[in-house]
Amino acid sequence: MNEKIKLKVESLRSEIEKHNYNYFVLAAPEISDHSYDQLFQELVELENKYPEFKSTFSPSQKVGSLPISSFSKTTHKIPMLSLQNSYSPEEAIDFYERTQKFLKTTKPLEFFIEPKLDGVALELTYTKGKLTSAATRGNGITGEMVLENARTISNVPLEIPSTDLEILQIRGETLMFKDDFESLNSNLDKKFANPRNATAGSLRQLDSRVTAQRPLRFYAYSFGFISNNLSFKSQSDFLFKLKEWKIPHLLDFKIAKSSLYLKTNSPTKIIEHYKKVEKLRNNLPFEIDGLVIKLNDIELQNKIGFISRSPRWASALKFTPTKVLTQLLDIQVQTGRTGALTPVAKLAPVEVGGVIVQQASLHNFLEIIRKDIRIGDQVFIERAGDVIPKVDSVDFSKRNPKSLPYQIPMCCPSCNVTVKLEEDESILRCENPTCPAIVYEKLKHFISKKAFDIDGFGKQKLKRFIDLKWILDPKDIFLLKNKKELIVELDGFQEKSTTKLLEQIEKKKSIQFSRWIFAMGIRHIGETASKTLGEHFQNWESLFNASLEELTELSDFGDKMAKSLFETLQSASFKNQIEELTKLELTLAKVGAKQQLTSTALENHVFVITGGFSKGRSYIQTLLEENGAQVQKSLTKKTTHLLCGEKPGSKLKKAQTMGLKICNLEDLKIKGDQY
Ligand code: IVH
Repeated sequence: MNEKIKLKVESLRSEIEKHNYNYFVLAAPEISDHSYDQLFQELVELENKYPEFKSTFSPSQKVGSLPISSFSKTTHKIPMLSLQNSYSPEEAIDFYERTQKFLKTTKPLEFFIEPKLDGVALELTYTKGKLTSAATRGNGITGEMVLENARTISNVPLEIPSTDLEILQIRGETLMFKDDFESLNSNLDKKFANPRNATAGSLRQLDSRVTAQRPLRFYAYSFGFISNNLSFKSQSDFLFKLKEWKIPHLLDFKIAKSSLYLKTNSPTKIIEHYKKVEKLRNNLPFEIDGLVIKLNDIELQNKIGFISRSPRWASALKFTPTKVLTQLLDIQVQTGRTGALTPVAKLAPVEVGGVIVQQASLHNFLEIIRKDIRIGDQVFIERAGDVIPKVDSVDFSKRNPKSLPYQIPMCCPSCNVTVKLEEDESILRCENPTCPAIVYEKLKHFISKKAFDIDGFGKQKLKRFIDLKWILDPKDIFLLKNKKELIVELDGFQEKSTTKLLEQIEKKKSIQFSRWIFAMGIRHIGETASKTLGEHFQNWESLFNASLEELTELSDFGDKMAKSLFETLQSASFKNQIEELTKLELTLAKVGAKQQLTSTALENHVFVITGGFSKGRSYIQTLLEENGAQVQKSLTKKTTHLLCGEKPGSKLKKAQTMGLKICNLEDLKIKGDQY
């Protein structure tokens, strides 16, 4: 009799595990929820009636246990590595070629492409088929033992049908589906920022009964220690093996009839897959932040090994972060150096691409009106790479019907003087020369890195001196030395640091002409234009004598730029400022040989060189640099041109795929070339 019951209990358990797998992994339940509940209930009743058959590995035991005071640490049998990141398909090609190089081959290599699941890594250890340990990644060497919590994860099997293996370590990602996350958050007072944080917070709960209430899931992507010889030869075979072991994976998951996985030896196919999955990612029920490209053959993986903490045989290929929705709390207006008013969006904190954003650009006032952006609206925020986040658009479906259109400011927020709307520029400008915001921004620019670059002169010190009215315009900076006694009396200023600051200021009295021009913050004259002017005119006298025609003819100078510069140079107040500075013995430093440009014809050109040149690569490199270009060793996102000599290498093909401009020396027609 007892034997019969034992068999019944065991068959119920494996039946329930099978339905769990069908439901959570294959998303193809074979029975109704009601029938499943009945099976589950039957098992629970039998286990209660015959406690001798109770087992910690029964699917009925996924409910958590008593809280613990802290997690114990556990050392991974094999370190859990992380991945090197790349951010563009071009970098994926680089990775492909690097791998070929490591393997000293030019033949195509087979790669397996997987989704990069955005959750928390977890390592499950099965001993003779039973789940005996679960550890987080930690620092890669030691992690935290979270077995009690992992046991509660709905699709983690407590027992698997692989009893011939003494030890089987499976690694994968714990995550939360987006809609599960939303409904969890809606019931929490202290909300999680995103599904990944919710997952981490749930997995690291000291009370596993709380974890059991959280909608976590686990999907495997790799393995740790396996006691027997491996029964698979590649990453793709490993994933298929998971099916046999009934361990959750996403191999059969389809989105718009497409798989998230791909086995290929073609770089073009990798890029196609990347583009396809990137488009589909927002429709997935869970978050992925890119793809992982893995060299498929495990023997080859072992051959090339790893570098510091990442394998050489795998690379993460990240997606551009998507748009997120948040509330526009306020539109603040800032007055800049040139008096232009800029609207800045203040946002309810939101995570975009791994960064918490609270502020974003709104472009200009006309844009706010055009897009009808209103304070209080739910707005989409966009952030790509390191670019400043910007407000993209309004979610009108969430608009408060009582909200009012945004009112463009009439006055400068700093000095309250009425502002002017520029006809052609859609810019509001404060024209008060003594506006505190303009004075501060102008001086901040004057001492900034690319201008006078005064070491130890931070924004706070500057603000202090301006508030005390010790600095009102640039010349006052060089007169600060007369106030040394007063400065050291100030809170936070010591004799030593003050002496150092004043020495630094004194040192910068010898300045390159282009830096000085740039420091003056003339409208439309940025760093490049300042360099052009510095090289062309060499000193203030000849610049002041330049005619409008002469300025217009300078390379890259448009009519507007030349006109605005000409007007500034003619103005008495500008001339006066330069005179005052010259009187204080500001002198022009000689430009070092390296910075002397022959021309700026190749400004903004980023070259990679391939093939042979009769004069040698370093000659070519110097030539390009002397004409304002930048030269790189390998093709990256920033590269704009490929310069080809004789017998160009593999870079030519790659540059063509990347759509770069391909040229030879004759095409460039640059100065200084002795050919
Ligand atoms: S492979 C040595 N495959 O990304 C290989 N990792 O920085 C390391 N991840 O901590 C892992 N999806 O949590 C691999 N398909 C996937 C992955 C994946 C997500 C996570 C994993 C790891 C991090 C790598």
